Amino acid sequence: MARVVVVGSINMDLVTLASRFAKPGETILGERFLTVHGGKGANQAVAAARLGAEVALVGAVGDDAFGAQLHEGLVREGVSLDHVARIADCGSGTASITVAEGENHIIVVPAANARVTPAQIEGAQSTLASADAILVQMEIPLESVEATLRLGHKLGKPVILNPAPAQKLPTEWLKLARYLTPNQHELAILLGADSDEDFVALMQRAPAPVVLTRGGDGAWFRDGGEPQHQPGFKVDAVDTTGAGDTFNAALAVFLHEGIAPAVRKACAAAALSVTKLGAQGGMPTRAELEAFL
Ligand code: RIB
Repeated sequence: MARVVVVGSINMDLVTLASRFAKPGETILGERFLTVHGGKGANQAVAAARLGAEVALVGAVGDDAFGAQLHEGLVREGVSLDHVARIADCGSGTASITVAEGENHIIVVPAANARVTPAQIEGAQSTLASADAILVQMEIPLESVEATLRLGHKLGKPVILNPAPAQKLPTEWLKLARYLTPNQHELAILLGADSDEDFVALMQRAPAPVVLTRGGDGAWFRDGGEPQHQPGFKVDAVDTTGAGDTFNAALAVFLHEGIAPAVRKACAAAALSVTKLGAQGGMPTRAELEAFL
């Protein structure tokens, strides 16, 4: 069983389904509202656990009702929460999500996620030291992303940096990652490049190996040689929220099989994840993934 440690955010997702997106200043009627568990860190932890990994999460929730519900949900999924802090007098992270026209718009308010500190990550050193793979995203303070990269690298562990939401990061940090897993837009921002620049060229000049997600087109990956393409799996998409998280989780869980098989499984798991509503709704179990493949 792979051991995966995820360092990242935990959010309550406030999801509105509508037939189209509202324009600035406009009010429209939506079709449905749901409150579901999310956050890139929590989503990746849940997806990895469903795929059969032993998973520990490093993060924070507030001492509000959302925090208690999010904590309970993660316990139910079998995620170890020894390093999830409960921050007093603080709200939990939220994501206001509109799903319309086959796409989503997301606004995240980090709240407790902004209180994940480098000291907390260093306090989880023995947990990180037991990992086969470490996952980190960018909904926590950048200094904590840096601390994860540095500690994971020092421990000789493969750190997968999912640079979402993207910001330009120092080359020196990026070199500490075993893999960077942006989409095309995120890769351009991460490298401070023009978003129109050819993604294969961007992959070639990234300071660490890149696994680039391309939605329905699957993924491209490069680890030294020429970039290779893994086509996407055809499914009827209901909600793409959390597809990237499922992809990253599967990549971490199956990394020990080699990058090409891991990317193939990651594409399949991500495809399954979009067939149901909510970030965690469609994340497949290992048996579901195997049956699909
Ligand atoms: O990647 C999807 C996630 O992004 C959502 O669950 C939301 O919480 C935001 O963090």
